[in-house]
Amino acid sequence: MRVLVTGGCGFIGSNVVDAYIEKGYDVAIIDNLSTGKQENKNEKARLYVEDICKDGIEEVFKKERPDIVNHHAAQISVPLSVQDPLFDAEVNIKGIIRLLLLCNKYNVKKFIFSSTGGAIYGDADVVPTGEDYVPEPASPYAIAKLSSEKYIRFFYGQYGLRYTILRYSNVYGPRQIPHGEAGVVAIFTEKLLDGVLPTLNHFPGEPQGMIRDYCYVKDIAMANILATEKDTVGIFNIGTGKGTTTLELYRLVLKTLRSKGVGIPQAFDEPKRDMARPGDIKVSTLNPGKAKIELGWEAGYTVEMGLSETVDWYLNKR
Ligand SMILES: NC(=O)c1ccc[n+]([C@@H]2O[C@H](COP(=O)([O-])OP(=O)(O)OC[C@H]3O[C@@H](n4cnc5c(N)ncnc54)[C@H](O)[C@@H]3O)[C@@H](O)[C@H]2O)c1
Repeated sequence: MRVLVTGGCGFIGSNVVDAYIEKGYDVAIIDNLSTGKQENKNEKARLYVEDICKDGIEEVFKKERPDIVNHHAAQISVPLSVQDPLFDAEVNIKGIIRLLLLCNKYNVKKFIFSSTGGAIYGDADVVPTGEDYVPEPASPYAIAKLSSEKYIRFFYGQYGLRYTILRYSNVYGPRQIPHGEAGVVAIFTEKLLDGVLPTLNHFPGEPQGMIRDYCYVKDIAMANILATEKDTVGIFNIGTGKGTTTLELYRLVLKTLRSKGVGIPQAFDEPKRDMARPGDIKVSTLNPGKAKIELGWEAGYTVEMGLSETVDWYLNKR
């Protein structure tokens, strides 16, 4: 089976590519290397350094004739989407439309999309939030993801292009870059290793920070494999269902680093504090019940397990 992964040199995309290769799939990648890195590329995958905003990607479809397109390329910064919504829409809305048109033209069997449960539901009054909750996107980034979902469903209704939409919670793990949608694990770990006191962003009167559902990237990669192999069409939350405050996460990262022999002074037991950024939401946890029933997926990693592997990766990298 031939799979084309966009963004396959990025944090999540490269972990998804590794999982496909491990399962014996034939994998090609489209990535413009804007945030992705060549060093993340699986050596068994073919890389096309192309931009999803440009028509040149048609050549890749012509040559590769993929059965499945797995779309991970995106502008991933929520604050940047607030500053420059036009650029965000250029990549995150027009880019996906270009891909969907090509999927249709080249008879792709299924489209898999990395959406965001972490941002799309906004400040939901039901947590953990289910897929049937009416999204209230609070940033251009989340608006673009919701629009993408609607285009995908239009292409299914109009042309029969099958799809699975995966609404991820906050993803963390090896290869994460600090400035993405949910880069807090990468930020805390890198700063602490560099001997710099990290900053915890919070809303007024809530110094423990925000509540998030942290999901390890290997669990995310497995959800993509199941989405590829199951015949299901639909939208699925991919998260643990459990909430962790930013302060709890900070303490867990600190504890994990110390348990692996990294000397961090006691003065770092408390992070610096700063206000929440534009587009931030207070609480976000996802109900993954539907993915368990229909995809047979559930998170296998606790935050402690995932952080242990992640910290090992940062330590090996240095
Ligand atoms: N990190 C999270 O917690 C999270 C949560 C929900 C959804 N997502 C989604 O998962 C996907 C992957 O995110 P990530 O965290 O791995 O980010 P990332 O920046 O590491 O990966 C994005 C990849 O897309 C590539 N890219 C960007 N613009 C491109 C363009 N115009 N043409 C071709 N390639 C382009 C980048 O070079 C990079 O390799 C994104 O769609 C993101 O919105 C991430």
